[in-house]
Amino acid sequence: MSVLVTGGAGYIGSHTCVELINAGVDVVIVDNFCNCKKSSINRIRALVNKDFTYYECDIRDKKGLDSIFKKEKIDSVIHFAGLKAVDESVYKPLEYFDNNVNGTLVLLDVMRNNGCKKIVFSSSATVYGMNNISPLTEDMQVGGVTNPYGRTKFMIECILQDLYVSDNSWSICLLRYFNPIGAHKSGTMGEDPNGIPNNLMPYITQVAIGKREYLNVWGDDYDTPDGTGVRDYIHVVDLALGHVKAVQKIEAGSGLYIYNLGTGKGYSVLDVVKAFEKASGVKIPYKIGPRRAGDIATCYSDPGKAYRELGWKAERDIEEMCEDSWRWQSQNPNGYPD
Ligand code: NAD
Ligand code: WQD
Repeated sequence: MSVLVTGGAGYIGSHTCVELINAGVDVVIVDNFCNCKKSSINRIRALVNKDFTYYECDIRDKKGLDSIFKKEKIDSVIHFAGLKAVDESVYKPLEYFDNNVNGTLVLLDVMRNNGCKKIVFSSSATVYGMNNISPLTEDMQVGGVTNPYGRTKFMIECILQDLYVSDNSWSICLLRYFNPIGAHKSGTMGEDPNGIPNNLMPYITQVAIGKREYLNVWGDDYDTPDGTGVRDYIHVVDLALGHVKAVQKIEAGSGLYIYNLGTGKGYSVLDVVKAFEKASGVKIPYKIGPRRAGDIATCYSDPGKAYRELGWKAERDIEEMCEDSWRWQSQNPNGYPD
């Protein structure tokens, strides 16, 4: 089986490629390297015993993408490529709609023209919006999103669902990720954000190595056990393994499938700080700040459907997530080399 992985050099994509290759799948990576370093490709190579091909190509480049499909024998696609910074999307909405939505339209058109109708899409728990009560299940209403990034995910879900209605020979899997953290056990691959991290774990690890003075905790007056926001953190390797199962599912027959990929457990910001301190032995100074616009109190999954239908569940706990994040950050204080 040969899988084209868009955004395969990024954080989740690189971990997924390692697990796909370990599972005997042939991988072809397409990435324009707008949010990752090329050295991540070498790090993937160093962890697997099989070579693979990568192309530097933007998914909006229809000709380029078409020539890749003509050259490689692609059975299915895992589509990670996209811009993902929530706050950036608020002041660059056109860039987000162009890259994420238009990029997906180009990809789908090229796939269809080349007779490839199987796709796994990186969606997000953000599509559940502000109003659903956790644990979140796949049948809940989606769409109450609060920012352009989230809207691109919701719009792409709608596009893929309409595509399936128009032609049910497609096989489409929407994976709604909760909060991916952690890194490969080797410490050679992990999350390498540009600039000041938006997300909690990379911010904590940068405080731990001394790049940032303290963590800002965005609000301690939520209706949660300690007042700080509660999220469903999932180890990136568990997430990667969920993609291996999802690809097997879409290979098995046509259909439209939607799965949460989360652990089903919620941890507060202060729980994560404590777990990280325990795993790393490093104290994380923090200051309580105001709430961050657009944040909700609590968000965690019901991961039961993925277990029932894919036989997948997350195995790695919060301690392991923190240990692995710390190993990556301490071994690579400046992230991937240029
Ligand atoms: P990432 O930025 O590390 O990876 C995305 C990759 O896509 C990068 O390597 C980037 O260079 C590439 N890319 C972006 N636009 C491209 C384009 N037009 N053409 C080709 N390549 C392009 O992000 P990630 O955390 O690995 O996320 C992967 C996917 O999962 C994204 O679609 C993201 O929205 C989604 N997601 C991420 C999270 C999270 O918290 N990390 C949560 C839910 C969903
Ligand atoms: C987690 C918790 C913050 C940073 C975002 C996107 C979502 C998905 C995952 C892509 C919250 C608190 C954070 C900090 C803090 N991405 N926090 N100080 O907001 O759940 O989800 O990433 O699809 O779409 O919205 O993740 O890691 O930013 O925040 O106190 O410096 O940590 O308020 O409670 P979030 P996060």
